[in-house]
Amino acid sequence: MSGRWLERRKRDYYYRRAKEENYRSRAAYKLLQAIEKYGFMRPHDVVIDLGAAPGGWLQVARQIVGDKGFVLGVDIRDIEPLQYSNVHTIIGDVREEDTLRRIKAILPRPADVVISDLSPNVSGVWELDHARQIELAEQALKIALSTLRRGGNIFIKVFHGDLFDEFLRSVKRYFGRVEIFKPKASRKESAEIYIVGMDFKPP
Ligand SMILES: C[S@@+](CC[C@H](N)C(=O)[O-])C[C@H]1O[C@@H](n2cnc3c(N)ncnc32)[C@H](O)[C@@H]1O
Repeated sequence: MSGRWLERRKRDYYYRRAKEENYRSRAAYKLLQAIEKYGFMRPHDVVIDLGAAPGGWLQVARQIVGDKGFVLGVDIRDIEPLQYSNVHTIIGDVREEDTLRRIKAILPRPADVVISDLSPNVSGVWELDHARQIELAEQALKIALSTLRRGGNIFIKVFHGDLFDEFLRSVKRYFGRVEIFKPKASRKESAEIYIVGMDFKPP
């Protein structure tokens, strides 16, 4: 059995499972696996989901925070609404200052958790895709720094490459515990990796 064959099976497995369990994306399992391992999201939490379309992570977050929590999804693309009064979405570019202002205006209180699955449209030119993705991860961190409560958590996707270490160093400056996580549901050949930052210490 070739590695590629196994990888394709794994991809199909999560794709099928997402269909069966009514998740909007396979990505839902990446978040579920991370929460299962690190427990960084809890009932009643206020959660901001950056790069939220089509909404798999929003579904998972709502499942965890329940009726008394609050979930805000942000994406440059439209997100089909979820039928819950405590799940809100806005269309916005995370690189624009106005998006941060709108996020703050909608939050009921400082966030407990900021999650980001932000990815650019990949061009196939690795250096370019890597740099663009890191720029998005930096925006996610910036938004987290100005919306999180003390002790809050982040979960941010990063494409692993030359710029990774510097980004990791900036996360370590603000969080008491930092872990790097590659979920089982993430393809092995994909450069994506997730940074979990727990126990936010405001500057
Ligand atoms: C991998 S998808 C997210 C999948 C999502 N976690 C889910 O479970 O359904 C990445 C998203 O990042 C969004 N995105 C890319 N650049 C963005 C930007 N500058 N501002 C906001 N969203 C952006 C894309 O539109 C895309 O929907």
